Amino acid sequence: MTLLIEQTITFVKQTLKDAEAGHDWFHVARVWKNAQHILKTEKADTLVVELAALLHDIADSKFHNGDEEIGPTLADQFLHSLAVPEHVVIHVVAIIRNMSYKASLGTVNFSSKEMEIVQDADRLDAMGAIGIARAFHYGGFKNRPLYDPQIRPNPNQDKATYKNSTSPTINHFYEKLLLLKDKMNTDTGRKMAINRHEFMEQFLANFFAEWEGEQ
Ligand code: ADP
Ligand code: NI
Repeated sequence: MTLLIEQTITFVKQTLKDAEAGHDWFHVARVWKNAQHILKTEKADTLVVELAALLHDIADSKFHNGDEEIGPTLADQFLHSLAVPEHVVIHVVAIIRNMSYKASLGTVNFSSKEMEIVQDADRLDAMGAIGIARAFHYGGFKNRPLYDPQIRPNPNQDKATYKNSTSPTINHFYEKLLLLKDKMNTDTGRKMAINRHEFMEQFLANFFAEWEGEQ
């Protein structure tokens, strides 16, 4: 591992030392590992992908009064404090900015192969066994019900609305998690998403069967 990556890991661990479990250092480490796996089969600038994966969640706007600029600014300052080539800094910061919530609503338009890989790596961590754990962790954090048969999942609901609603955690699967497999950018990411998607489908089938006392 290069010194630069080691220094970045130290910085991210320190910055996220009090983060909640869905966005802690271990989430970042998993996204980084997913990205490294994708890099084995997709051609891209390894340094940009690794730095962006490591720095992508250093300041989630959800936990900073909606401030979308904190993450990119912190990353920019950190990378400038090290001997990172300017074009790498610009690219990494653009990726982090584009991965923010506002960006996902379509107000920012940046794209690159490196961006696609980091986004796939992050999405993969919202799927499968880990994705299920994170969703219920987040629901607990927000004191949401696991499931309520009277509140039907609505895949067309505006993301901005359901983020602030008391929508049960099961609904989040229909509103976001089950849609991720068709949003993967890279062929490798798409392949990695298949197992994770099937595991969530199986989980939901068991969940509803158990809800009715059928198993
Ligand atoms: P990231 O920052 O990693 O891209 P998010 O901030 O959108 O992802 O969400 C972090 C985790 O919390 C994900 O696993 C996501 O599924 C989960 N999560 C986000 N919103 C909800 C919700 N309304 N209900 C349940 N889980 C949620
Ligand atoms: Ni993330």
